[in-house]
Amino acid sequence: MPIKLGVVITTDKSPTPSLFHFVITNKNQAVHKHQFVQLQTDEGTLVARVSNVLNLNRYFENPEAVRAYETTDSMENSFPVKKWEYKVAEAIPLGIIVSGMQKRVSVPPSPGSEVFNAKNELLQQFLGLDPNGLLLGKIAFHDVDARFNMVKLLQKHVAILSISGGGKSHTTTVLIEELLERDGLTPAIIVIDPHGEYTGFGDDERYMSKTRVFNRESIKIGASSLTPNQILEFLPQMTSVQRRDLGKLISELREERKEYGIDDIIQKIESSKIEERTKRAMLRWMDDLKRTGLIGNVDEPGMEELVRIGGLSVIDLSDIVDLRKKQIIVAHLARKLFEARRLKLIPPFVLIVEEAHQFAPEGVERERAISRNIIETMAREGRKFSASLILISQRPIKLSTTALSQCNTQIILRVTNPYDIKHIGESAEGITQDVLDMIPGLKVGEALVIGEAVNYPILIKVRERKSKKKEELGDMEKALEEFVENKKRTEEDLEAFM
Ligand SMILES: Nc1ncnc2c1ncn2[C@@H]1O[C@H](COP(=O)(O)OP(=O)(O)OP(=O)(O)O)[C@@H](O)[C@H]1O
Ligand SMILES: [Mg+2]
Repeated sequence: MPIKLGVVITTDKSPTPSLFHFVITNKNQAVHKHQFVQLQTDEGTLVARVSNVLNLNRYFENPEAVRAYETTDSMENSFPVKKWEYKVAEAIPLGIIVSGMQKRVSVPPSPGSEVFNAKNELLQQFLGLDPNGLLLGKIAFHDVDARFNMVKLLQKHVAILSISGGGKSHTTTVLIEELLERDGLTPAIIVIDPHGEYTGFGDDERYMSKTRVFNRESIKIGASSLTPNQILEFLPQMTSVQRRDLGKLISELREERKEYGIDDIIQKIESSKIEERTKRAMLRWMDDLKRTGLIGNVDEPGMEELVRIGGLSVIDLSDIVDLRKKQIIVAHLARKLFEARRLKLIPPFVLIVEEAHQFAPEGVERERAISRNIIETMAREGRKFSASLILISQRPIKLSTTALSQCNTQIILRVTNPYDIKHIGESAEGITQDVLDMIPGLKVGEALVIGEAVNYPILIKVRERKSKKKEELGDMEKALEEFVENKKRTEEDLEAFM
């Protein structure tokens, strides 16, 4: 039996097809903002979301009377005020189920209709959840698993947004766990991990067999696989003359041998007959690229090592300080992944980009946004090739609008900055004001899932992670303890240092 919560009342604004109020008659059942309710209408079963709960009491309606009583004694001592307190919930109809089909609500519910807590099975179906989907948590205020259909979630792109500490990496970790544990075919997962937060998957017994971690030592960009266009992508300041000449030289080099390094390119430039000034400039660019220390003879890791069905590859960039270097790596990997997938040489994959605003920044000149172009290209065209992106950011305003607007599912956690909320509203398709209004109240671990993956925006409580958590970064308490523990040694070091 569904639990009865209350009865629809008339107000001067409701009921309408888009709003109704009900007085709460069930004393034992709290009604929460954001929970789902159902009621019967002539058409079928109407499902609505509680958008507000008001606490009312006639004794406190007249401010003069309240003031008069409260100055001499309290209202509570003079009247049975507690008995007269009641609650009214405001609810927004979402849809109506008519003989198994979901329709838009066009007729208001009748005053006097009984309102019930939405039944679990009904809710699951109504919201478009998948009983076999990826388990990210529970629907808030309902005992319903928040299971999302993998294909609906990942066939287009996803954005995960919140303030710093809102739970983005936690949620992403949960999502990766679900993908790694999933029965059946699962796309390859590649994570761009600027803080080394996901390397723990490689140490966790549950997941280690499916995980490979690559870091500064194990990532190399193969000079022999770089086309002049790709070099240009790393060195966007190169002029078209330099680019044309370099193209010629590299084509020659490619004909001469299969494998070469950056020094071979440099030698080739030195011994060429190109104009002296262009030559000098080109040598400077090549030297600049060489000094990044990222260029080897061949690409490492190779594509088969990087992209494995149902496997996780963590690109640990935590040892690299220079943003440009990190962008070069991301640009190279993303381009290779995208091109290989376009030719169907590798399986469908999901590229997860943490701190996406660093790699695809909005409003920053090309020289400082080396990886933006390929991320935007993937955002626009990736879905055609089953190459999905999950973009994670704590500053949606600083993230490429092109990339963000292509994310058809948004997982929004705690966001407080009104500009960020406004920006999310503008970049997400079909997000209404009443849904935007839900964002500021979100707590850490609560997420609003909006878009392609669900029929209606859903508030979920993200589940605990199963994988080991990498040591908290920059935890001050821990740093203090560590310092005290090592005090003696620190003192000696300090002495030596002085
Ligand atoms: N659903 C949850 N259940 C339990 N703990 C959580 C949950 N969500 C987040 N946390 C905890 O809250 C803290 C912050 O979460 P997390 O690191 O995921 O935030 P973030 O949004 O990635 O922050 P940043 O932008 O700084 O990277 C972590 O200690 C994390 O373990
Ligand atoms: Mg994070």
